Amino acid sequence: MSRLTVNDEPIDYKLDPDTPLLWALRDASNLTGTKYGCGTGQCGACTVDIDGHAARSCRVPIGSIEGTYVTTIEGLSRERNHPVQLAFIAEAVPQCGFCIPGMVMAAAALLARNSDPSEELIRAQITNLCRCGVYPRVVEAIQRAGRAMRGEEV
Ligand code: FES
Repeated sequence: MSRLTVNDEPIDYKLDPDTPLLWALRDASNLTGTKYGCGTGQCGACTVDIDGHAARSCRVPIGSIEGTYVTTIEGLSRERNHPVQLAFIAEAVPQCGFCIPGMVMAAAALLARNSDPSEELIRAQITNLCRCGVYPRVVEAIQRAGRAMRGEEV
C-alpha cells in the first residue's frame, strides 16, 4: 500500500509499489487529465507536480513517493483557472490538445520558482514534446502567465 496526497486528498493505493504513478492516477483515481504518451519519460504528456516539482509520472513508481503531495491538472484549477491556463487560452496554444495538461503542469512548476523566465530558460526547462509544434505559442503563454502572476499588464 502506498499513501499519497493527491489534489489535497489522502489516498492509500492498494497497488504494487512498482506501479507507475501515471496508472495509479488514471486507473485507480480516474484522473484522466494526465496523459499517456510514450511511457518512457521522453514526451512529458504525463507531467504532474510532486512536492513542487514537475515530474513525469510514467517513470515514478508509487512506492518511491510515499507521503508526497501530488497535484494533477484537475487539482491545479479546482477553484479557478490557474494563470497558466488562462494564458494558454488567451494565446490559443492548443492545437490537438493532447500534450497540453502536461505542458501546463510543467509551466506552472517553472513559474512557481521563477515568474519571469527568459525564452531561453523556458525552452531549456519545458522539454515536453508537442506533435503539433505549438512551441512558439507555449513560450508566449508562459511569459504572459508570468506577467499576470507578477501583477503586470498582460
Ligand atoms: Fe510519460 Fe511520455 S508518457 S514522458
